[in-house]
Amino acid sequence: MFSNSIQRTGLFFHKESSGIKCLTQYFLNSRSTATLVGDKPKTMDDLNGPSFLTSLYWLFGKGYFPITHQMQIEHSKIYGPLWKSKYGPLVIVNVANADLIEQVLRQEGRYPIRTDMPHWRGYRQLRNHANGPLTGIGPEWQRIRSILNPRMLKPKHVSGYANAINGVARDFIEKVAKLRTVKGDVVLVQDVAGELYKFAFEGICSVVFETRMGCLNDVIPEETQKFITSVGEMFPDELVRNKMTEIEGRVERGQEVEGEYLTHLLIGEQMSLTELLGSVTEILLAGVDTTSNTISWALYHLAREPEIQQKLLEEINNVCPGDQVPCSDDISRMPLLKAVIRETLRLYPVVPGNARVIAEKEIVVGGHLFPKNTLFHLCHYAVSYDEKIFPDPFTFLPQRWIREKQKQIAQHPFGSVPFGFGIRACLGRRVAELEMYLLLSQLIKRFEVRPDPSGKTVKAITRTLMIPGNSIDLQFIDR
Ligand code: HEM
Repeated sequence: MFSNSIQRTGLFFHKESSGIKCLTQYFLNSRSTATLVGDKPKTMDDLNGPSFLTSLYWLFGKGYFPITHQMQIEHSKIYGPLWKSKYGPLVIVNVANADLIEQVLRQEGRYPIRTDMPHWRGYRQLRNHANGPLTGIGPEWQRIRSILNPRMLKPKHVSGYANAINGVARDFIEKVAKLRTVKGDVVLVQDVAGELYKFAFEGICSVVFETRMGCLNDVIPEETQKFITSVGEMFPDELVRNKMTEIEGRVERGQEVEGEYLTHLLIGEQMSLTELLGSVTEILLAGVDTTSNTISWALYHLAREPEIQQKLLEEINNVCPGDQVPCSDDISRMPLLKAVIRETLRLYPVVPGNARVIAEKEIVVGGHLFPKNTLFHLCHYAVSYDEKIFPDPFTFLPQRWIREKQKQIAQHPFGSVPFGFGIRACLGRRVAELEMYLLLSQLIKRFEVRPDPSGKTVKAITRTLMIPGNSIDLQFIDR
């Protein structure tokens, strides 16, 4: 009973506190009350964790630098679900338990901050750029989000992007058909994630600008290639400005302006051009490899699980028989398709570790009192593999997300939160989901996807985002 309560509130004993210090008081509701040690509340000092040197050893000696997501799991086994890591003067509080993550996020305040991002912000200031939704903070961020949110998150607006995305998906499928190299019985497409990057770039541009950039052409236009490259470097100014001028011209000439995200932002006149530029840049920055990597992993697993792929094909064909192309209404009748994406994001959360700095007040988490401005590292990857929440955690089991089954499992609402939480959660969630559902359903309808016959397995690595560690090569066989 006692240990259950401890687990529920996420409180744990670490070496220092068990035995040596006396635990005099234990509050069941540790959300708001710190546990007392003697007559003092537990604080960050009472947390265990690796020293700077130990962290360096893990990263570079033991080789966890490219797989920091795995380090979340290993460290939580050693230190428990709440521990601190020191990197010189920087102290990070790691949180690797769904209850505790919930406690942090529910106390994040009016203007949640992910991290300080001083370099990004400094660079923007230097070049006179405005912060967008990703880098903004405080009331300025909130204002920008309130302008950007409606046409990115409201289902009635988002479903309006389905035609544009379906057009891009159709072109991608044709491209896949052309990219296949045939050797005997093997019909292989190499580096599927790289190709999907072009799909995602074209997709998000079609939503934001309602313009086709030509990323899926046999020869990518020079300007588009520059644009793609500069997104990596953060500021594709010229092209965005040209696009804005073009749309502004249309607005001024009173021409048709329906449907374009950017147009609505321009007509709304709630942001300056500099702010618009900052926001569009950050939307493109956040909206490409996130989606493309997730679709790559979904295909990778479907290729290895022919039975699940077959069930998915049946579901898609039941809802959209013959040549019918799925639209956004159809997706609501495809629970397995949604479950495939949810399960993919559980196994490969693109953002394996998120962060929050709680600047407004001191907060209690897991019975510890933390001062203002504590940096919390939310170990979503480790929690996604918590077998108490997700039995058989290393297996790709989309069925675990299907409602009937879900009833039997004690799902935790913070077990898998791949798009983040609260008012600072992903701006592009609905668009990303629509892109992934529409493309995946069209792809599975057209091709049987099979693994690379060489039997190569692909592991994830983390470079801020979780990405495939080597090329995902798959066979696409006409149905
Ligand atoms: C599979 C696809 C995607 C995943 C898993 C994903 C995940 C995330 C996560 C975890 C966050 C942080 C949320 C938080 O701190 O609580 C985030 C933020 C953000 N995402 Fe996404 N994202 C995806 C696709 C997209 C797309 C397509 C766009 C653009 C249309 C986008 C735009 C953004 C922006 C602008 C933010 C910053 C929001 C803010 O700080 O206010 N994302 N995303």
